[in-house]
Formats: sequence, structure tokens, C-alpha cells
Amino acid sequence: MKNKNFAKLSINNKTYNLPIYKASEGNDVIDIAKLFAESGHFTYDPGFTSTASCQSKITYIDGDKGILRYRGYDIEELAKNSDFIEVTNLLIYGDLPNKKQLSKYYKLISNHTMVHEQLLKFFNGFRRDAHPMAMMVGVMGALSSFYQDSLDINDPHQRMTASRRIIAKASSIGAMAYKYSIGQPFVQPNNKLSYSENFLNMCFSVPAEEYKISKVIANAMDVIFILHADHEQNASTSTVRLAGSSGANPFACIAAGVASLWGPAHGGANQAALEMLKTIGHKKNISKYIKKAKDKNDTFRLMGFGHRVYKNYDPRAKILKQTCKKVLNHIGIKNDPVLEVAIELEKIALKDKYFIDKKLYPNVDFYSGIILRAIGFPPEMFTVIFAIARSAGWTAHWHEMIEDPVQKIGRPRQLYSGNKKTKYGVRRSTKNTR
Ligand code: SDX
Repeated sequence: MKNKNFAKLSINNKTYNLPIYKASEGNDVIDIAKLFAESGHFTYDPGFTSTASCQSKITYIDGDKGILRYRGYDIEELAKNSDFIEVTNLLIYGDLPNKKQLSKYYKLISNHTMVHEQLLKFFNGFRRDAHPMAMMVGVMGALSSFYQDSLDINDPHQRMTASRRIIAKASSIGAMAYKYSIGQPFVQPNNKLSYSENFLNMCFSVPAEEYKISKVIANAMDVIFILHADHEQNASTSTVRLAGSSGANPFACIAAGVASLWGPAHGGANQAALEMLKTIGHKKNISKYIKKAKDKNDTFRLMGFGHRVYKNYDPRAKILKQTCKKVLNHIGIKNDPVLEVAIELEKIALKDKYFIDKKLYPNVDFYSGIILRAIGFPPEMFTVIFAIARSAGWTAHWHEMIEDPVQKIGRPRQLYSGNKKTKYGVRRSTKNTR
């Protein structure tokens, strides 16, 4: 990368010139790759609050202005005009496909919606009450044992085939996890339907009666998939990149991403946010929970609030709030107590000094759970739906990482604060606290 400026760092009267690289949008970076070799010092940044792990062209976020763009296109425009499959194509290939390219791509994806018949047996190994995310982690990883003709990460054709399989099968496997957890038979994909219609059909149709797909609900599903498709170097995407940097096969990398997304501080927050809103139960209880959220000694946090990058409103939350009202209206839910609590909680929190000072706004997970619950999904399925959508972003970043000429295996260092050399047999402390 070309650079014009340098940052000067002086350590023990020695000055180090660190190249500064300019971003096409947003924050420039200081290249510290040679700092350890030249100075014997590591940089220290737990949680990577000030660290760029890579160069990427896929997604741009401006946390202060509340901007989110996939390959330069604003998320608001994509949510309004595009569909999820076109967005997966945009994320992976870098530009919007023309009509011909899109219809060819659509066929390529639908060729992979079914899974190997033997894979269905994996589900029987899970207890009926297993969390569907446990099935997602296990079965997505198991794909590598069925599709051995798309494991060679150095073969671009195999990489592309693996990506299409991941995107196509993520929704089929997610739907099977749901059907297995409620004891209903799996529903095969129907390639005449759109991706979102197919997912709804695989989840909610039963052999005993006809399932009518609502256009409003299918559109809301598609918007949810689009909004969750990618988000720069978040925890699960960074996990996929780190796993991929060791040369692990694509299905193993995606399974690692699913595992990381499951955490309540990340993708698991949509389930936790809905459960929190249900625990609050009524508007009159909100102040008690706001107090708990502000209490340093209380581990309670307002789930669905706050973000590492957005220090302004998460643009996805704005779109989901509108989608939420549309879906509830369509279903005929006039006054949903959970939505009422959510809207009131948002109003109160956004006027509260603690939240304003700490720049805590509703994030993508605050409203998504209310919509998914209204559509008929149990809270355990919310993060599965997030994982289905994010499989697109994970694969796009996985491709970009492999094609990056400067990429090498990720191997961070540490600040060691443990014991110095001790002779065997010497006890360091009298208390044996085992
Ligand atoms: C996602 O990274 C991504 O892009 C993620 C994501 C994606 O699309 O991939 O956007 C998806 O994961 C959204 C975030 C979902 N998580 C939640 O809603 C869980 C609740 N939120 C928090 O746990 C928290 O806000 C994080 C994890 C989202 C961000 O944490 P940070 O950036 O590490 O900030 P922090 O924990 O250091 O908090 C800063 C301060 C702290 O107070 P002080 O120690 O400075 O006094 O704000 C407080 C925190 O205590 N705080 C909250 C809070 N979030 C932060 N206080 C109450 N409620 C909250 N939700």
C-alpha cells in the first residue's frame, strides 16, 4: 500500500517512523507490522478497540454518522430495492449483478439448497431440547465431510462452489434445526420460491395442510436477511478470518463463525433482548431495569443497546423499527405489550444522561426479535436466522482474506504478566488454594 505520511513513535530516545495509509472512506491506519522487529515492543489493545486487522473493500461503517454500506451501497437503499440473494452476490463479487448475471447466480444457488440425505441423520444425535444454534454449529461444520470436492482453498472454482453451498444450505439447515426442535418432519426446499419464501416454507409448512406464504412476511424476512448479511470486522467475521488464515476448510471456518455469533454480547443479543423485554413485562417496570443497567455492581445490561462502533443510532435498527410496525400491522397485532415496552424503553433511555454520555442506542438486535416472534419463530431461532444471513458476509470476507497477497496466519502476541523462572519443587505461596 502507498503511504505519504508517517507517525513518529519514540521509545528510549529512539524514533520509529510508522507508515500511515489513507482509507478511501473513514479512518486512516498506522502500519505497526515492523514495530516488534525494530523496537522489541508489541502494541497492546485487548478487544481490538483501536486495531485494524486487515484491509477490506466489502463493508464500510461510520459509527458517528450511523452509516452502513455494502460495497458502497447504503443499507437503506439495499433494504428497499434489493433482495437477499442479490446482496450475497454484491458482497462476494463486489458489484451489483446485471439481470442475466443475477438469474444465472440464482440458479447456481438453488442447485445447492438440498443437503446430502445422510446429513439428516446428524440431527438425531441431538436432544430434542438442544439449542438450534448447537445444531447449526455441528451440522455446518459437518458439511466438510460431505462436500470434499470443494475443500481446496487454493482452487478458486472450489472456493466459489463452497460459498454457494454455504449460502444455499445455511437456510435449509437452519429450518431443519427448527423442525427437529419442534418434532415436525423436515420440509424439502422448493426452488420455485424466493430464498426468503423458501425459508418460511421450510420452517412453517406441514405435510398435512397447505401453507400460504404472505408477501409482507416474506419481504420482512428478506429485509432481515439483508440487514444481517455483513458488518465489517465484527467478532464472528474476525473469527472466520482467523480460522481461515490457518488454511482450514471453508465449512470449518463458517462453523467457527456460527459459534462466535452465538454469544449474547454478539448475535445472541436478539434472543436476550426479547427475553429482557418480556422480563420487564410492562412500561411501569422500565425505570427499575434502567436503574439496574446503570448500576456498576449489577451485571444486567440493556440487551439490544450499545455497540462497539455505532456511537449514534444503528441504521439497521431504524429500518427494523419500520419493518416491525408493518409486520405487526399486517398480522393484526394492535397493541403488542413487548413492542410497547421496547418503544417506551427506547424513548426513556435516549433521554437518560447515562445512555447519552455512553452513546448507547438501540442496535440491530433491539427490534429484530419482536418481528421474528410475531412471524412465529421462538427466541432460540433468532440467532440461527442471524447466522443464515451472516453466512453471506462470512464467505465474502473468507474469499477476500484468501485473495489478500499480504495475508498470513493470524498469530497475535501478549503482555506476559505471569511468574518468572521458578525451580521445580519451590512453592511460591503458602496457601494451597486448589
Ligand atoms: C451485534 O460488532 C458488530 O458489528 C456486532 C453486530 C454485527 O452486526 O455483527 O453489530 C451485531 O453484536 C450488536 C451488539 C449486540 N449486543 C448487545 O446488544 C449486548 C448489549 N450491549 C453491550 O454488551 C455492549 O454495548 C457491546 C458488547 C455491544 C459493545 O461493548 P463495548 O464496545 O465493548 O463497550 P463496553 O462494554 O466497554 O461499554 C462501554 C460502557 C461501559 O460502561 P463503563 O465501563 O464505561 O462505565 O457502556 C456500558 C458499559 O457498562 N454499556 C452498557 C451497555 N452497553 C455498554 N450499559 C448498559 N446496557 C448496555 N447495553
